Amino acid sequence: MRGALQWFLQRLTGVLLFAGLIVHFYVMHYSGADPLAYESVIKRISSPYWKAFDIVFLVSILYHGLNGLWGIVIEYIHSARLLKLVRTSIIILAFIVLFTGVYIIQTPS
Ligand code: HEM
Ligand code: HEM
Repeated sequence: MRGALQWFLQRLTGVLLFAGLIVHFYVMHYSGADPLAYESVIKRISSPYWKAFDIVFLVSILYHGLNGLWGIVIEYIHSARLLKLVRTSIIILAFIVLFTGVYIIQTPS
């Protein structure tokens, strides 16, 4: 079942991803020397602004990707039992990735 709210959130997270990916791409590839070195990453995610950015980015990609996947799933799967199984799996996957991501981002202070 997909309602107007899911439709709207898919578009909202699409816009957030578009803006976020431009920033993320720039930071990861062009922002000074060695932006992917351990020290650079720790320094960046020690900032509350980058923490906020990363968490919004993570929530957006998770919602957008998995809600989009769910939209495809309900078009092709018609068995109620299988739908329930896939739905539960998607929700569990979302929470595992969300908690792992937030744990990693909030660790350095
Ligand atoms: C610039 C970044 C992105 C923008 C602006 C964007 C925008 C959108 C929009 C507007 C829709 C709705 C399309 C429709 O209902 O006809 C959509 C669907 C979808 N998006 Fe994205 N998206 C972006 C990135 C991503 C990424 C990185 C993923 C994968 C993780 C993804 C996965 C999906 C999926 C699976 C759907 C559902 C497709 C379908 O129903 O056929 N998107 N996207
Ligand atoms: C070559 C391409 C990429 C590189 C080198 C890269 C690298 C990184 C690094 C080093 C971080 C840690 C945060 C930081 O340093 O500020 C990060 C975080 C993140 N990236 Fe990327 N990234 C790439 C592409 C992407 C793409 C295409 C997406 C989404 C479609 C994405 C989504 C994320 C998210 C959601 C986080 C936060 C993750 C968390 O919870 O810890 N990245 N990325």
